[in-house]
Formats: sequence, C-alpha cells, structure tokens
Amino acid sequence: MAKIEIRNLRKEFGAFTAVRESSFTIEDGEFFMLLGPSGCGKTTTLRMIAGLELPTSGEILLDGEEISQRPPSQRDIAFVFQMFALYPHMNVRKNISYPLVSQGMPKAQVRAKVDEVAGILGIRDILDRPVGGLSGGDRQRVALGRAIVREPKAFMMDEPLGALDAEFREHMAEELRALHDRMGATTVYVTHDQLEAMQMGDKIVVMNNAVVEQFGTPQDIYDWPATMFVADFIGSPSMNFLRFDGKLAPGATHVGLNGHDMRVPELREGAEGKLVFGVRPEHITLTDAGDYRAEVLAAEYLGTTQIVTLATPNGEVKARIGAAQKVAAGETVGLAFRPDTVTVFDEASGRALRSAKNEGVLAHG
Ligand SMILES: Nc1ncnc2c1ncn2[C@@H]1O[C@H](COP(=O)(O)OP(=O)(O)OP(=O)(O)O)[C@@H](O)[C@H]1O
Ligand SMILES: [Mg+2]
Repeated sequence: MAKIEIRNLRKEFGAFTAVRESSFTIEDGEFFMLLGPSGCGKTTTLRMIAGLELPTSGEILLDGEEISQRPPSQRDIAFVFQMFALYPHMNVRKNISYPLVSQGMPKAQVRAKVDEVAGILGIRDILDRPVGGLSGGDRQRVALGRAIVREPKAFMMDEPLGALDAEFREHMAEELRALHDRMGATTVYVTHDQLEAMQMGDKIVVMNNAVVEQFGTPQDIYDWPATMFVADFIGSPSMNFLRFDGKLAPGATHVGLNGHDMRVPELREGAEGKLVFGVRPEHITLTDAGDYRAEVLAAEYLGTTQIVTLATPNGEVKARIGAAQKVAAGETVGLAFRPDTVTVFDEASGRALRSAKNEGVLAHG
C-alpha cells in the first residue's frame, strides 16, 4: 500500500530553483507519470520522493506519514535508474538476490523469492547466465527483478526505456504496464515523451520550468489543458491557437474571431485583452459553406487521416480530417469548430479561462 502526497515541494540548488511549490497526489496502486521537457525538474522531484535528495521546503507524505527528511533506507521505495545498472561480475540470479542477501534473508527463502520474481518477468531460463552477454531487454528485466524482489511500497522509474530504440521501447512499455497491472504497486514514472505518458499513465503531472502546470487523467489533460503550455506539449499536432483581441464577461458563450461569432463552452470567468481560441486539429471540419474562410497551404496524407495546414485570419492552424476528403493547396475553404471542445486562454498568463466544461478539471490542477 502506498499513497504519496506531495505538498508545496520545493528544491533549490544554490540560487537556482529546480522545483517550485509542487503539489499533487499519487493514489495507491496508480501508474503515475511525471511528464515535461528536459530540465523541468522531473528527476529532482523523483529523487526527493525516493530520499536521494532532501527538499528545501514542503512535505512528502507516504500513507499519511511525513517522510521528506528520512533517509532512502527508511522509505521502502525502490528507484530504477535511467541506465539500468547491474553488477557485471555476477550472474542473473546473484544480481536479483543481492538486495535480499544484503538484508540477511535465509538462503532458501532468497532462492524461492528470486524464482518467483524471475517467473513474473519471464527470465527463469537465464538465471544462471552472466549479465554481461544479455540483450538490452533482458538486462532491463534483471534490473527490474532486483527492484521488485524487495517488494517495496512504491517504484520510482526515471526514463527507464530512454536508452532503447523506438520499436523495442514500445514493447517494453507494454510489458512494464502489464507487470504493474499484475503487481498493483504504486509506480511513479518519469518521461519527456507525451505519447508514452498518455498511453501508460493512470494520471499525469505535466511540469515546465520547475512548476506543475497540471495534473489529472490523460483524457482530462488532453481535452481540457489548464495552460497553453500543456495544450501545446500534449497531442501531435498540438492544439491550435487562434489569437484575437476581445473582452469576455463571465457567462459568455461566444467569442468574436475576426468579426465572426464562434460558440465556446459557457465561460465562468471573464478576461480582456489578448485572448486565444484553442481547438484540437480533429475538432475542425472543412466545409464548402461557412463564412469563416481559410486558405489551404498544404495537406499531409497519413493513411486514414490527413493533416491540412491552413492560413486563417487569426493565424495558421492544422486540421485533422478524413483521408478521403479532397483538398488542394491554394483553395479557399470554410472552417467549422466543434464548440463544446474549445478552450479559451488568456495569452498574458497562458491560463485557460474557467468554463462550464473544464471547471472540474482545473479545480484539482
Ligand atoms: N545537483 C544539482 N545541482 C545544481 N543543479 C541541479 C542539480 N540537479 C539538477 N539541477 C538542475 O535542476 C534542473 C532540473 O533538473 P532535473 O534533472 O530534475 O530535470 P529533468 O526534468 O529530469 O530533465 P531531463 O529530462 O533532462 O532529465 C536542471 O536545470 C538541472 O541542471
Ligand atoms: Mg531527468
């Protein structure tokens, strides 16, 4: 059992702040993703949870107990590093046994535990092999075995698949997720790959510049980004930003884009000045009719869909439409936006305005 609560966690390295007042909750048994670009503070956050780094301020609660100042050995949290480190002079069995042997567990019990873990990971047949000659995947299974065998309360994994090529990476990601579903242990997984986070995670924290931008389920984060950073970072192509100047009162259900009224989910807060109409590429349709017109710049054929790049009066947008629809560069088409999926942002703060649709999602972000 392990529920992990992060409250106002902060880490300074001298004058530099690597993590700034972070708050989020990891429920027991969750596969939890820490996502963000390079240098945003993911590893530092993970190391603080594991006890490899002490926070400057803030709290970490493990099942309700404050542990932020405890040494790693008193947290019962296993850390799996980016480059899986094994003891090269030991065989697979010895590598996996090591944490148990150093705890002083009796030999027969160690043997039984290692056999069990090797069974879970599908590596029983290589237990007597030296680790030196193993494939990348098997080395990772051995390293995982060494973490699992301790039966820790939670696993911290820092880009564990980072060193693998794309195809094998996808396979190992599925294997890791399946392993988690069988064992049910709380896992915090760091990645800078938004697709990996979306595919594997029960919940995602998106970080940028030492700050938590949003936390929630993959679907909530995709559908209702709390900030323009999240909207841009998640999804490929990313959310389109159509920029406009305006004044919106609470209760507004329309915005004016270049003189055209566009429906949006009813706003709960107002804003004035530079605003942004955010819409995902798959929520745009191209029509013959419609008086909001755009010029087709290019169409990229993807098999079942195509990505069409268009010049609108409010900037360039990308639409994802069916592959069968005929569009040609140079022609002018009408654009329609699915109104219930639109997010309006305040450009100065980069924040999504609260609306009838996203209110619940932003509340715990
Ligand atoms: N021990 C340290 N001393 C000084 N600065 C540090 C230290 N550890 C990390 N930093 C800085 O803190 C920031 C966040 O680092 P961190 O390793 O947490 O980023 P990350 O999100 O894991 O990035 P990456 O995706 O590149 O691994 C970086 O700018 C890094 O240079
Ligand atoms: Mg890192």
